[in-house]
Amino acid sequence: MKVTFLGHACFLLEGETTILIDPFITGNPVAKIKPEAINVDLIFVTHGHADHLGDAVAIAKNCGATIVSVFEVATYCGKFGVQTHAMHIGGSNRFGPVQVKLTPALHGSGLVDEDGTIQYLGNPCGFVFNLEGKTIYHSGDTGLFSDLSLIGKRHPIDLAMLPIGDNFTMGPDDALEAVKLVKPHVVIPMHYNTWPLIAQNPAEFKQDVETDTPARVVILQPGDSYEL
Ligand code: NI
Ligand code: MN
Repeated sequence: MKVTFLGHACFLLEGETTILIDPFITGNPVAKIKPEAINVDLIFVTHGHADHLGDAVAIAKNCGATIVSVFEVATYCGKFGVQTHAMHIGGSNRFGPVQVKLTPALHGSGLVDEDGTIQYLGNPCGFVFNLEGKTIYHSGDTGLFSDLSLIGKRHPIDLAMLPIGDNFTMGPDDALEAVKLVKPHVVIPMHYNTWPLIAQNPAEFKQDVETDTPARVVILQPGDSYEL
């Protein structure tokens, strides 16, 4: 399976099915592709912040993909006439070759209306994907929490995408602790260097993780792929 980092928290998984996660492309200063060029079967959205919901509706309209998210985000997207599938934290479902479970994330979720008020969109989540014999965990935006160990215990994780940007999510030190709890084989850091506010040195994170844990860190630049 080919795992491509599209910048920020956005990943494209290409195998028996094609999956897009958190498609923030328009307005993303590090994105290298156009949303019109994306053609996927499923779009997974961790929460309703603009840097995650992003182009989900436009891409779903364009290619006919189904948007999968927590009930509140799925219902919001459904207003625009796209196919949606609502789930919630702790629930699993199968979409063809991919089994998905929603996990907790310690964060917020909402969109700012034109008048500046916030439309709340429920609880944020992460995703555990099982496909082609591999288990992938995308944590969404989250702070460190001890139940990350439950996720690792219930699902031996081959690949984890974890935020390291700090300010809005875990920083590198807490992400190192998250790796110790989740125990993935491989970690791809995300949600950093999109803007100066979340600037981090991923090479330092890699060195710390690989010194302190058996996990390997793969640093992807936007547009880069990793073969899982
Ligand atoms: Ni967020
Ligand atoms: Mn975010």
